[in-house]
Amino acid sequence: MPTEDQLQEILSPRQIQDRVRELGGQIAADFPGRPLVLIGILKGAFIFMADLARSIPNQLEMDFVRLASYGSRGESSGQVSITKDIELDISGKDVVVVEDIVDTGYTLKYLKDVLKLHEPASVRICCLIDKKERRKVEVEVDYVGFDIHRGFLVGYGLDFDERYRNLPRICHLNPGYTPSAFAPSNR
Ligand code: PRP
Repeated sequence: MPTEDQLQEILSPRQIQDRVRELGGQIAADFPGRPLVLIGILKGAFIFMADLARSIPNQLEMDFVRLASYGSRGESSGQVSITKDIELDISGKDVVVVEDIVDTGYTLKYLKDVLKLHEPASVRICCLIDKKERRKVEVEVDYVGFDIHRGFLVGYGLDFDERYRNLPRICHLNPGYTPSAFAPSNR
C-alpha cells in the first residue's frame, strides 16, 4: 500500500452540480407537477440524493434502503440482500431510485425486483455514474449523470474503506496504481 493516497480529480464540484441540476430538471420534466418518491441507496447515494432532491421542484417523499452484496476481490457475486428496507408505502406512486454508481448491476436489478412487489405506479433509476462496461446483468438506467469507464472512484459519497465520501469532487484514487485488494473491481 502506498503511504499516502494520490487523488486525481476527474469531476469538479462545479461539473457535478451542473449535471445534478440537469438530471433534476429531466426528472421534473418527465413527471410534470406529479409527486414522486425518491429512494436512495445507502451509503454512497446520500450526498447525490441531497443535491438531486433540491433540484426537483415536485412534491417529494424520500426514503432510503441499504443493501449488502457478497463477493470477493471487491466484486459483487450477485447475491444481494436488503439490510434496511423502505419505510414508506410506495404502492401506486412514481418512484425514482437514486444510486451513486452502477457497476455489475446486481444491486439495482435486485432492488428493482423487490420494489415491484410493493406495486408502485412506476420505478425509474437515476445514477450519477454508470460503469456500463462492467455490467454483469442487464438493468435499465433511466437517468445517467456521467459514463465513466476506468479507475477506482472516490468522493461525493463514494468511498474507499469508508474514507473520502465527504470530498466535494470525484477523483481517481491512486491512478496508475492498482492495489490487489480492489484491482479486479476497478470501480
Ligand atoms: C456500491 C454502490 C452501489 C453498488 C453498485 O455500494 O454504491 O450501491 O456498489 O455495485 P453493483 O452494480 O456491482 O451491484 P457499496 O457496496 O460500495 O456500498 P456503499 O454505498 O455503502 O459504499
